[in-house]
Amino acid sequence: MIILGIESSCDETAASIVKDGRFVLSNVVSSQIKTHEKFGGVVPEVAAREHLNSINAVIQKAYLEANISPKEIDAFASTVGPGLVGCLLVGLNAAKTLSIVHSKPYIGVNHLNAHVSANFINSDLKPPFICLLVSGGHSQIIYVKDYDKQEILATTIDDAVGEVYDKVARLCSIPYPGGILLDKKAGLGDKTRFNFPEAKVKENEFSFSGLKTAVLREVKKFDKENLPTDDIAASFQYRICDTLIKKTKYFADNLNCKTIALAGGVAANSELRKRLEELKEKGYSTHAPELKYCTDNAAMVASCAFYNPIKTDDSLLLEVFSRD
Ligand code: KG4
Ligand code: ZN
Repeated sequence: MIILGIESSCDETAASIVKDGRFVLSNVVSSQIKTHEKFGGVVPEVAAREHLNSINAVIQKAYLEANISPKEIDAFASTVGPGLVGCLLVGLNAAKTLSIVHSKPYIGVNHLNAHVSANFINSDLKPPFICLLVSGGHSQIIYVKDYDKQEILATTIDDAVGEVYDKVARLCSIPYPGGILLDKKAGLGDKTRFNFPEAKVKENEFSFSGLKTAVLREVKKFDKENLPTDDIAASFQYRICDTLIKKTKYFADNLNCKTIALAGGVAANSELRKRLEELKEKGYSTHAPELKYCTDNAAMVASCAFYNPIKTDDSLLLEVFSRD
């Protein structure tokens, strides 16, 4: 089954053609970083307009790269939510229109489920597994029992991990997009210089507000010119990744499910991937999507449309939603 997926939930306009949920025939992503850079973050109204400007060209490129004509597509899919409503509407209307024009089904996809599905792309990973999903809007540990059966084991009670990365980056005067640049700076620093605290919370919770405040307290001790950004970044990155890996491992042990996967934009983080890799030595089987399938992309949408679509009697009646 060949599916064309569209992603437009935030600041990436993307289209991808994927065969049987795993084999990527094309993967086109148009990033809006340049546009939002000057605002220091994503401006929803501006993002929606950018999606409108680029969606047709992105879809055309996806056909060209795959060397496939619209007639060969079996279904059209898009992210329905959670995300920015004005942005989601662009992708949803494009996919529904294509489905009507070519008389093929429209499939709606949940953005979080799509991030989990990124693990199936170009891989042979199969459920069950434990998935640490960390993005700009969500932080969850999920028990993926089957392709369409998932149970949330733990979630954040305040900021999402990507959000913390972006806020800590701002505190350190690291420009947008903060997470990836902070990760680079962390690679240059001394992670033992600052001993940032780990939150004491229930086993099914994450909390990062204390960590954020601890970073702010350190930042305030220095003049802007003398801020040891690399060491702060490294110490912060060590603490947050340690917390994430420890809790994920705890649930894997508890459920006796020794396969662990990563998902979401923060799954691209170098320290998190390194710490995951280290679990292999302890007898766990681990998996992380390729970097380009961690941050928002449409291949994961097409994969999810195959493995875990939103179930509904009439998909053409699906409406976008902002929060889960
Ligand atoms: O999944 P994603 O592309 O969009 C959402 O669904 O939110 O995730 C974006 C988030 C941002 O907060 C970004 O700063 C973070 O992922 N991110 C990273 C890295 N690359 C992206 N955070 C830490 N290290 C990275 N290398
Ligand atoms: Zn995302």
